[in-house]
Amino acid sequence: QMVPVVLCGGSGTRLWPKSRATKPKPFIPLVGEEPLFLATLNRCGDTDMFADPIVVTGAAHLGHVEDLLPGEGGSVIVEPMARNTAAAIALAACRLPEDAVMLVCPSDHHIADCDAFTAAASRAADLASDGWLVAFGITPDAPETGFGYLKQGKAIADGSWAIERFVEKPDLAKAQAFLDEGGYSWNGGLFAFRAGTFMDELTAHRPAIAAAVRKAVAAGHEDGRRFYPEAKAFAEIESESVDYAVMENTAKAAMVPVSMGWSDIGNWSALHAALDRDDAGNTARGRVELVDCRNVMVDTDGPRVSVIGLENVVVVVDGDDVLVTTADGAQKVGKLQGAANQ
Ligand code: GDD
Ligand code: MG
Repeated sequence: QMVPVVLCGGSGTRLWPKSRATKPKPFIPLVGEEPLFLATLNRCGDTDMFADPIVVTGAAHLGHVEDLLPGEGGSVIVEPMARNTAAAIALAACRLPEDAVMLVCPSDHHIADCDAFTAAASRAADLASDGWLVAFGITPDAPETGFGYLKQGKAIADGSWAIERFVEKPDLAKAQAFLDEGGYSWNGGLFAFRAGTFMDELTAHRPAIAAAVRKAVAAGHEDGRRFYPEAKAFAEIESESVDYAVMENTAKAAMVPVSMGWSDIGNWSALHAALDRDDAGNTARGRVELVDCRNVMVDTDGPRVSVIGLENVVVVVDGDDVLVTTADGAQKVGKLQGAANQ
């Protein structure tokens, strides 16, 4: 059995006005009726394959997490403050037996093909038991700069490879060069490893983070199914993502390529692409009328929205806030005053 470790920390400002500080991206229904966080738990619902999940989150999201976490089964690690993913994963690793195989899952992704996910997770579990730190490789279709890039190295087993090189968030020129060269995948943000292997590699490459997390866990306390790491020790930790801290540096990185309809739903345009669209490429949620539109997405929680003759446009209405943007502009939503002051 693998232990799902669900990371729930981001704010998702690029999906404003629906995603807000009070109710961020993992907790709102974006694809279908199920919030992404719940979909993440449900993907790991097969009890033959997965143990009860551990959710790592901040106090601000605790209410939303506990609303959706099943009544029995599952526990929560409550971070005193956000210290990024290296520390968040280490908290869970320190609470587990060294031999436990963890499956680290972001809580804000969409995966269309659950069977492909499960098959890849099971291949990853085998590699993880053998001491690899396993990433999931997604076939890239653009030189995105918001992702990590994995270069496929030597074959380890059927459908799994060593990672020759892991580059987190390259600039555009580098990302384009990787695509031109070939043999690179995007990092899907999911990881599998033994808890002990992860702590060994973190200790090797970021000893201060590993030591401070161990200290915060040793001095932490339980309250029902919640665990509170000790705040003073945790506060000292440097904020660094697991990608920079461990995956770029370890010699034990491996990958399983997987085609599972993956999207990190990074902005409204990405969400539009993940939804079922009509023949003209339009999607609508709420009271919407579209005439002579192509690739238009409208999502309204109240007011009727009518659009005529537009292409590649996103309209979102949430309460008093209205967002209108081109598909290309969707990337900049996080920079709006409204998103900043939500
Ligand atoms: N608990 C907790 N605490 N969770 C956190 C924290 C934290 O301090 N920081 C981030 N997370 C959670 C986020 O909520 C998200 O679910 C996941 O960890 C990844 O963090 P992001 O901030 O979304 O990372 P990213 O999108 O920039 O990059 C990562 O994901 C990409 C794929 O979407 C990297 O792993 C990239 O290499 C990868 O390509
Ligand atoms: Mg992300």
